[in-house]
Amino acid sequence: MAARTIVDAIKANPEFVLGVATGSTPIKVYAEIAKLVKAENVDVSKVKAFALDEYVGISKDHPESYYQVIKVNVTDQIGLRPENVNTPSPDIKTVATAGADYEAKIKAAGGVDLQILGIGRDGHVGFNEPGSSLASSTRIKTLTQETLEDNARFFDSIDDVPKHCITQGIGTILRAKHLLLLAFGESKAEAIAGALEGAVTSSLPGSAVQLHPHVTAIVDPAAGSKLKNLEYYKWVYENKPSWDAI
Ligand code: PGA
Repeated sequence: MAARTIVDAIKANPEFVLGVATGSTPIKVYAEIAKLVKAENVDVSKVKAFALDEYVGISKDHPESYYQVIKVNVTDQIGLRPENVNTPSPDIKTVATAGADYEAKIKAAGGVDLQILGIGRDGHVGFNEPGSSLASSTRIKTLTQETLEDNARFFDSIDDVPKHCITQGIGTILRAKHLLLLAFGESKAEAIAGALEGAVTSSLPGSAVQLHPHVTAIVDPAAGSKLKNLEYYKWVYENKPSWDAI
C-alpha cells in the first residue's frame, strides 16, 4: 500500500521529492517500489530523495552509515540517480553547519513531497529523541541508551554505535507535504498509540504528526494493538471515498 501510494505519486509528478527513512521498517517498501518501478516502467530519473538522518563521525563507506544504507536500499535498488539522493554529512569537521546546509538543500529542491517515517520504541521520529523541540530543524542530537541498544544489532557491539547523529528536526519533518508513518510489531504498539492518540508532547516526538494536515499511518495488527479508536479507523478505511482521499 505504501509503495503503491509512492509510485502513483511519482507517476503524477516525475520530479517528486521523496523523504526516506532508514531502520528495518521501510526496507520492504523500498523493494516493492523497485518492483513496481520496473514492472510499470516508471521514469525515476528526476526523482530526488532526502534521508532523515545520519550518524556523526562515521565514514560514508561504513556499511552501516545511512549514506550506504540508503545507497543500497533506495538509490541502487530503485534506480535513482546518485546525484539526486541526499543524506546529511557525517563529517565531524562540518557538523556545526551541516544542519543549515541540509535545510537549504531541501528548500532548493522545493521541499519534501512525501516523508516516510518509522518510529522508535521511545517515540522518536528521525533521530529526534524525547525532549526534541517540536519546531526543531536539522541539527546534531545525542542518541538515547534505548536507541543505542536497538541499533547495536547493526554493529559488532553497542560500543561501536555512534552516540551522535545529525537529524532532520521535527519542524523539518512537519514541512513535508505528506507524512507516511509505518510501524510493524508489538514493540511499537505503545509508541504508535502515544503518537496517534496521546497528548502532543516533545516527550514523544512522533506525536508531532498530529500537527500535520496530511498523515497516513500504516500499522500491522500488533503495532496497532494499543490504539483506542482502532474500530473507528477500520470503519474510516472501509468507507473511504477514494484512494485520492488518503
Ligand atoms: P526500525 O527503527 O525501523 O529499525 O524499527 C525505527 C526508528 O528507530 O525510527
